[in-house]
Amino acid sequence: LLLTQDDLKKIAAYKAVEFVESGMVLGLGTGSTAKHAIDRIGELLSQKKLTNIIGIPTSTQTHEQALGLGIPLSDLDTHPVLDLAIDGADEVDPDMNLVKGRGGSLLREKMIEGCCKKFVVIVDESKLVDYIGGSGLALPVEIVPFCWKFTAMKLESMFMEAGCVAKLRVENGNGKAYVTDNGNYIVDLYLKKDIGDLRAAGDAILRLAGVVEHGMFIDMATTLIVAGELGVTVRNK
Ligand code: A5P
Repeated sequence: LLLTQDDLKKIAAYKAVEFVESGMVLGLGTGSTAKHAIDRIGELLSQKKLTNIIGIPTSTQTHEQALGLGIPLSDLDTHPVLDLAIDGADEVDPDMNLVKGRGGSLLREKMIEGCCKKFVVIVDESKLVDYIGGSGLALPVEIVPFCWKFTAMKLESMFMEAGCVAKLRVENGNGKAYVTDNGNYIVDLYLKKDIGDLRAAGDAILRLAGVVEHGMFIDMATTLIVAGELGVTVRNK
């Protein structure tokens, strides 16, 4: 019996929800993997197996999903400290550093997941990489719309040695700029080589005026749950 990638995402998500206890303030992630975890939390709440949960959604999409499931919601202004967050990732390196933001919610995810006592990352094994950028997928950077071409050009030249190509993210179909929940644009950086010191690279990106946030989540994950054909593994940092 062969499992689909979505089955694996669900297995990882359900495993993560085992860490959820009644009374917790929970960061609710975004994307197709996190969606399974939120569904499961909704199910356990409706069965009264969990009570007094407060969810802090990382996107309008997750906000809508959680509302539909009857999960009580709040925000960082009211709950600046969270017990636990559960979210997916686009890439996970051997040190449990992440790339996030293919779904576009990197800024809210970083704000919320940076305030959690425990941050559980849930992935299927296809997300594991040897180094950040190693999947060939983009490193997303959220930027302000003002003179976005200038910012994209600056980012591209910053990582010239890694063969960086910067592309404005556009919506499927109409080719218009993709706009984040925060009214910003996303530039996707395609890297051909390892960029080395992630913290230095991240700091350099953030120093560029016009940049709002980047999608590297360095040293933030505390637990990694990986689902693969051979089973599910839980790793703590
Ligand atoms: C959303 O902005 C992203 O950070 C997602 O968490 C990430 O892209 C993982 O999404 P999937 O679970 O759909 O792969």
